[in-house]
Amino acid sequence: MLSIARNSLRPTITRMFVARSASLHTLPELPYAYNALEPYISEQIMKLHHTKHHQAYVNGLNAAEEAYAKTPSTKEKIALQSALKFNGGGHINHSLFWKNLSPVNEDGGKLSQGPLKDALERDFGSVDEFKKRFNAGTAAIQGSGWGWLGYSLATQKLEIVTTPNQDPLISHAPIIGVDIWEHAFYLQYYNVKADYLNAIWNVINFKEAEHRLLEAVD
Ligand SMILES: [Fe+2]
Repeated sequence: MLSIARNSLRPTITRMFVARSASLHTLPELPYAYNALEPYISEQIMKLHHTKHHQAYVNGLNAAEEAYAKTPSTKEKIALQSALKFNGGGHINHSLFWKNLSPVNEDGGKLSQGPLKDALERDFGSVDEFKKRFNAGTAAIQGSGWGWLGYSLATQKLEIVTTPNQDPLISHAPIIGVDIWEHAFYLQYYNVKADYLNAIWNVINFKEAEHRLLEAVD
């Protein structure tokens, strides 16, 4: 009796699972090991950041999208928009962030002669001046947020921009994004944001950044 009931439910459950899993967001794998960015970003930070924080944004986005799709109420849909923005932004930003980092024995910290270096020198005078302005602007964010090197289609220049909370960068094409939430650095750098920002350039994947710039300009 029980097995008949179970079998009769199976097609419905399968259909529900297929329909739901097709739209689910998932946590992307890191393109390197959790300890690969040491000593600049510790294994402990990377593990927690990826498996707990990013996973929470993925879960929150799936829950918000599911609730949005289910409710017929416009008022409830409007109420869900902040959860969509926060968790959706968190998922987008972190997915970009993992890719714009790389271990030192791979592409980390290496900026070769090419279109990105040329554009940085054109728009900021020098690469060092760019890093200095980027770090100053990002450290000045009040509370949590992101520092960006973005490409503006309007001015056709690289510009330094910041976004609060988990707001994704919409005004510019994101070239490099740096997470300045405390969860990104506090366990290693405590309250000294400047040390975290100075260290991170050793593991920035400039090759990925150049790829994004060429795509944006195209
Ligand atoms: Fe983060």
